[in-house]
Amino acid sequence: MAWNMRLLKKFGDLLDAADLKTTESDLQTLTRQVAGDALGAADGVFKEAAGGAAARVKDLNVTLSEGWADMKTQMVTDIKEFTPASTAAALGGDDSTVSEATRLSALRERVDELEAREAERLQSRQRLQDHLEEVETVVFRLQEELERSAEGERRSEASYFAAPPEAGQEEEDEQAIRTEFYDRQAAADDRSAVLAQELSQVLVSTEQVNVELDFWRDKAERMLRAQGLEEVPEDMQLALERDGSDDESADPQELTAASEDSERLAKEHDDELQACQDLETLLADLMRRSDAVMGCADEQRQLERELQGRLAAAEAEATAAAAAADREATRRSKAEVQHRQIQELRSAADEVPLSLSSSYKDVLRMRKEVDALRSRAEQTKAENSNLEENLLQHRVAAAADLERAVPLTSASCWQGLDEPLMKLVMLLVRSTCLRRTFALHLVAGRQCCINAELLLVLVVNIVYLTEPRSIPFFEADKDMPQGVASTLHEGAGEIPASQQSILMPEAVHEVARLPPASRQSVLMAEADQHMPQGVAENYRFWGQKRTVFVKTSKGCRFTDVDGKEFVDFRLGYGPIILGYRDERVDRVVCEQIMERGTLSGFSSGLDSEVARQIKGLCPQIEKIRFANSGTEAVMGALRTARGFTKRNRIATVEGSFHGLYDEMMWRTDLDNWDYDGKTEPHIIPAGGGIPPVSRDLMDIIVLNDFEKLEDLFKVRGDSLAAVILEPIIGNAGSISASQEWLQRLRDLCTENGTMLVIDEVKSGFRVAKGGAQELYGIYGDLTTYAKAIGNGYPVACFGGRRDVMDAIGSHQGGVVHGGTYSANMIAVSAAHATLKVLAETDANKTIDRVGQQLMDMLGRVFEEAGVENHFAGPPAMFGMHFGPNVPTNYRHWRTTRSGLYQCLDFAEVDLLFVVAGFVVVIVVSYVLFILHYVHCA
Ligand SMILES: Cc1ncc(COP(=O)(O)O)c(C=O)c1O
Repeated sequence: MAWNMRLLKKFGDLLDAADLKTTESDLQTLTRQVAGDALGAADGVFKEAAGGAAARVKDLNVTLSEGWADMKTQMVTDIKEFTPASTAAALGGDDSTVSEATRLSALRERVDELEAREAERLQSRQRLQDHLEEVETVVFRLQEELERSAEGERRSEASYFAAPPEAGQEEEDEQAIRTEFYDRQAAADDRSAVLAQELSQVLVSTEQVNVELDFWRDKAERMLRAQGLEEVPEDMQLALERDGSDDESADPQELTAASEDSERLAKEHDDELQACQDLETLLADLMRRSDAVMGCADEQRQLERELQGRLAAAEAEATAAAAAADREATRRSKAEVQHRQIQELRSAADEVPLSLSSSYKDVLRMRKEVDALRSRAEQTKAENSNLEENLLQHRVAAAADLERAVPLTSASCWQGLDEPLMKLVMLLVRSTCLRRTFALHLVAGRQCCINAELLLVLVVNIVYLTEPRSIPFFEADKDMPQGVASTLHEGAGEIPASQQSILMPEAVHEVARLPPASRQSVLMAEADQHMPQGVAENYRFWGQKRTVFVKTSKGCRFTDVDGKEFVDFRLGYGPIILGYRDERVDRVVCEQIMERGTLSGFSSGLDSEVARQIKGLCPQIEKIRFANSGTEAVMGALRTARGFTKRNRIATVEGSFHGLYDEMMWRTDLDNWDYDGKTEPHIIPAGGGIPPVSRDLMDIIVLNDFEKLEDLFKVRGDSLAAVILEPIIGNAGSISASQEWLQRLRDLCTENGTMLVIDEVKSGFRVAKGGAQELYGIYGDLTTYAKAIGNGYPVACFGGRRDVMDAIGSHQGGVVHGGTYSANMIAVSAAHATLKVLAETDANKTIDRVGQQLMDMLGRVFEEAGVENHFAGPPAMFGMHFGPNVPTNYRHWRTTRSGLYQCLDFAEVDLLFVVAGFVVVIVVSYVLFILHYVHCA
């Protein structure tokens, strides 16, 4: 633009100069001079402008390497328009300076316009290029998406058809899903085809754009070349030189040609512009179509997603249907098997009558016999009731005679009975409602020792004989085939501990009819030849005549060799928690020993299984070891406690029983203790053969006595390896530790590093699934289990804290534990089956319920008799006490003089029947029971 500005300056100077000259000649001269100057200047300016334009064209050529001919052409046009000839004509003609100025200003506008056009064209070119790039990107993306979509379709189709056939699904559903799938797939295919077509169109359009661009590029270059402007526009220089040398001689034809040329170029430029605009329109159109294609692609994707969702749902449905079909098939095959079996049975049944036809007559005959027997039984029943009525009348008369002859209050009659027992005997007589017909006489002169359990038996039997329906417990027994037995047997166990020692003859009448030489006595005489006392272990000896020899057992009953049936309230001292011969347990044991044998001296895996079951019920157990009896379990636990603590002393609680281990066989001698509150009872061995040295490391504390507890730890705290106790003392009428005392014991053990060993041999899995510890919520470091764990099979264990139990082992200084029969297959399979039943059924609840019934019944009897009594312990293991309070410890219990659990002797009670003033002993002597409690003796 420099030349243009200079030209304008020159023009200004000219005007200025014109203002200064006033004469015409001067003006003419001046004008000529100025015009000459102006022409010179214009010449210079033009040259400069031409040079600048050439440079600019070159610049443009360099910048637009692809050659933007339109711009160059425009520049050429501009330069042409700005020819020296036209300028010279304008300046040299007779036109006024104003017209020259107008032309120059038009020239300037033209130049500006050209510049603006140039910029615009550059922009439009840029836009065009950007659009092209965008279109290519879009096209590329579309291609990718199309490929992806095609791949996805291929995959979903493959997975759909790879899915298992929809067995069992309803035909229609399946068909509908398939049809819909195919429809969707066809639609997707169509869509893909359209998209592909559109894509190819876009590609073609892009190609066209490129071709057109190339075309225009070529054309522009060709034009440039035609103009010769790719180098310096020499022709223009020449023209300028020619024009400058003689401005007057400018050829009007040449000018016309130039102006035509210029018009043509302008037209071409316009065409080119138009082409550019067309291209832009095309591009916009392409963009729109690509947008549409994008939209379609989105739609396609959405469709695909939907289709995949449907496919997934269809697959899930198909899987569910397949599973249902499998189940159905299994059920059907089972049903078929059953059906076949039924058919077989039916056909077998059809054959039976044939084989039975021969014995048909026998059956008829037997039926007749049965009917005859039945009617005879009816007859006998009627006779019996007559006899009973007669008997009742006789008894009433006899009672009146008895009262007259031997008043019931006669001291001689009741000698030997102390106050509470006397009360109870009175109760017995009264509770029979036969006050005037029966007298109970204790054989004169004989020193009888009757303890409460014997009395209980008496109560129960008399009540049973006389008023069976007044007590629900026995009512059930009469009315149901199994009676109590079934109640107990239905997943239940035994009657509570304090009743365990009672064996109750079901029909006392039968006792009276015993043959003089029974099998029992023969067997007893034989046994006497071979075993001390004629028994395999002390606790089986119930006396020479009453030691029981069992023939069969089931549930809570057993029958002895002489055919007497007993309801067993003791159930093997506790183990038979599910009843005798529980099939759930026995079957498993039989299977295991038939399959694996009884014992191998190797592990079976079932031991771990049992350990897991115990841990599931008893949270304090982390590791266990097996034993064969409660005694062994206690030995193992105490040795482990000593090994872990590296201490020796052990403390027990007065009145507890922990088996036959020497150290555990020391007891307080309450029989010879003067209860004056000042002196302490002696500690004596439970029997012969227990060495005094085994007492050296033992301490005995008193249950619920805080002072003695604190003293123990004060004196022995750092040498005490363990305190062992039963929180509910089974052999002392279930006297129980108080929550606070047990907690204090727990705390002191923890503080002093002493092991608390809780003996749950009796209470374990009985008073609660988790034993006494579950009831208290207080846990020992070690626990012993036996009895109920195996429903009568010999199995026991001890366990507890992992770190303590890990003291056991073959390592240096490890605690020795073992045993040939530990965890034998009989033991572990029995434990496994029993614990399974206990864990999975409500057996414990049943035991509680029966225990509660028994407590209620006894409570009513004692209440009627006005005998003060209390029950201790949970229903599943209760004890009863005669006195104003529940004893809180063993000593206290003994001072109530209830007579419980102290009698080593047995008693005989004779019933005397008095008729018409004569005292006649008519009934048999009942040797009811031998109460033998060596545990506590
Ligand atoms: C609490 C307690 N611990 C240990 C034992 C000893 O068990 P076992 O007779 O199996 O040796 C018993 C036995 O009655 C017991 O009641």
